Amino acid sequence: MVDEGTGQAMDAENQGSVVGARGTPTLTVVRDYEAMSCRAADVVVQAIQAHPDGAITVPTGSTPSGMYQELVDRIHRGDADFSRVQIFCLDDYLGQTPEDEASLTKLLIQEFLEPGDIPAENVHFIPTTTADPHAAAEQYEREIVEAGGLELAVVGLGPNGHIAFNEPGSGPDTRTRVIDLTQESRDQNAAYYEGAEIPAQAITMGLGTILGAKRILMIVSGQSKSEIVRETLTGPMTSDVPGSWLQLAGARLEVVMDKDAASALKE
Ligand code: PGA
Repeated sequence: MVDEGTGQAMDAENQGSVVGARGTPTLTVVRDYEAMSCRAADVVVQAIQAHPDGAITVPTGSTPSGMYQELVDRIHRGDADFSRVQIFCLDDYLGQTPEDEASLTKLLIQEFLEPGDIPAENVHFIPTTTADPHAAAEQYEREIVEAGGLELAVVGLGPNGHIAFNEPGSGPDTRTRVIDLTQESRDQNAAYYEGAEIPAQAITMGLGTILGAKRILMIVSGQSKSEIVRETLTGPMTSDVPGSWLQLAGARLEVVMDKDAASALKE
């Protein structure tokens, strides 16, 4: 394991079962949430500097808020240019629009798209309100391909191991689709809103879609995630822990976590 963003991978013995992956993920452990947010912003900015008109996908939730604040600050200082970057949303609840109370897209607009002055024409919202969500999901996949594929997928890690809304049972070949949410995820996400009813279904980019990104950045914070971090990174790859499939990304995966989130990993 590494500290303070030196960016070096853990040694092979501690990597767990990365079978069939090329190279090993980089696990970066930093002191706290603020440092995680800064390091995450560094990775995003590096990716968009290398590909100023490339596509990235970004998460919502409590984990990325600090990263967005950092990115917005850098945009305003002139240290990051998102003017040509294509932004794809990872997931949202079916039937919700940004005007609705329980909307993940609304969080993204409030925390990043609006304060970061991201051009509206470069934002690809996940299709939550279409009459045919299955066809719309296929169209979303085509939009990603037309944008040249994802240069970077930034993802969080759910307490049950979900990535985006790929709940337990999701395999590595899954694509953008409608999914039934677990009660645990609905309860977890209810914390983002005051008293809003959390829908039972979502539309999410698939694990296969995310694994197709040229680089994947997973960000994790807090002691409460330490056990699921251990299972995700060092346990067997299994759909019971959907995040474990990201081990398939090998060296294309960087995990940035604070010390608390990393606390169940072996030194
Ligand atoms: P959180 O959610 O950032 O609010 O912990 C992460 C997730 O569920 O993916």
